[in-house]
Amino acid sequence: MKTSFLQQSFKNIFNTTLIPYVFFAPGRVNLIGEHTDYNGGHVFPASISFGTYALGAKREDHKLRFYSMNFPDKGIIECDITNLNYDKSHDWANYPKGMFLFLMEMGYDITHGADILFYGNIPNGAGLSSSASIELVTGVLFEGLFKKDIDRIEMVKLGQKVENEYIGVNSGIMDQFAIGMGKKEHAILLNCNTLEYSYAPINLNNHVIMIINSNKQRILASSKYNERRSECENALKDLQTKLPIQSLGELRKEDFESNKHLITNQINQKRAKHVVYENARTIEAHNQLKLGKLENFGALMNESHISLRDDYEVTGFELDTIVEASWEQDGVLGARMTGAGFGGCAIAIVEDGKAEMFKENVNAIYKEKVGYDATFYIATIGDGAIQLTEEVVK
Ligand code: GLA
Repeated sequence: MKTSFLQQSFKNIFNTTLIPYVFFAPGRVNLIGEHTDYNGGHVFPASISFGTYALGAKREDHKLRFYSMNFPDKGIIECDITNLNYDKSHDWANYPKGMFLFLMEMGYDITHGADILFYGNIPNGAGLSSSASIELVTGVLFEGLFKKDIDRIEMVKLGQKVENEYIGVNSGIMDQFAIGMGKKEHAILLNCNTLEYSYAPINLNNHVIMIINSNKQRILASSKYNERRSECENALKDLQTKLPIQSLGELRKEDFESNKHLITNQINQKRAKHVVYENARTIEAHNQLKLGKLENFGALMNESHISLRDDYEVTGFELDTIVEASWEQDGVLGARMTGAGFGGCAIAIVEDGKAEMFKENVNAIYKEKVGYDATFYIATIGDGAIQLTEEVVK
């Protein structure tokens, strides 16, 4: 992406001659390990080349002025570094405001405000973590603009805190971690209980990761998400009457099977089953990828989708249509929904030379059943949040 256009926009919008610093944070896809993060299990995400740019220049006074090229109708949103409380009328700008507030509360003092322009190219509402991307790009901007040295994991945790406590969305750590810690051509195996992690090279041997956007609005996604969280918490409480565990992620499949009768509600039992089996699948998928056993990796992705469809019940007609159509195509190793579900995106591992055919066939089935098109992108796995220093020297 050419950032000179964004730099010109920065000058026009803020009416300034200052040359801004440029920062970028990606979005993410999750290869496997869904709805395990807030249950203390494993996830296996990667950062992608779609993301959010932020351009910033320090001001002489205390003002923070935000502008998003994605929401031009909202205009410049202005506040003061001495009052960063949540303000509904500030709309999207609450994400960067929350980051500023929590960073300052952590002791990273600033004495000047800034003008900041955002531009994101993550497809809207696709479930590829545009909000975590804004949080982390604000984190690296804060660090670069005000010359602070912020531990990256601390920044990741702060992003989650903004989401949970400032915005009020009860999500886990996966998105911020993938975006803050991403590495080119690698996925991250993360234990969400301990935050231990390792990088695994994505060697797909002439296959690509296809992202398929269902283009379905994720209506009710956050209330359903919270419902799943509390179903898991209730299942855990039942298991804790006998087992000394702090999270479902600590359970092996065998332990679950011999103790599942403790979970009195059948629905909660299904939810917990998904979490325990998905966690085991994620660790296994990582092993299979490392061994280069791509077929096994793909089969685990398929099992993951079935479990999310039947036991966790977060897929829905659109995602099921995409994934089931993908399974039938030539050259496909595996396919599943990715992210929270209830709409958003699926991913498929598709042989290079078959990608065009795949798009055509899957879209034809999708359009016939759902009534509108899906959108297809080939994922490029890039680095995590970063200052694009080369753009600054001009
Ligand atoms: C959303 C949340 C993540 C995670 C996924 C499901 O993306 O933000 O924390 O829970 O859903 O795996």
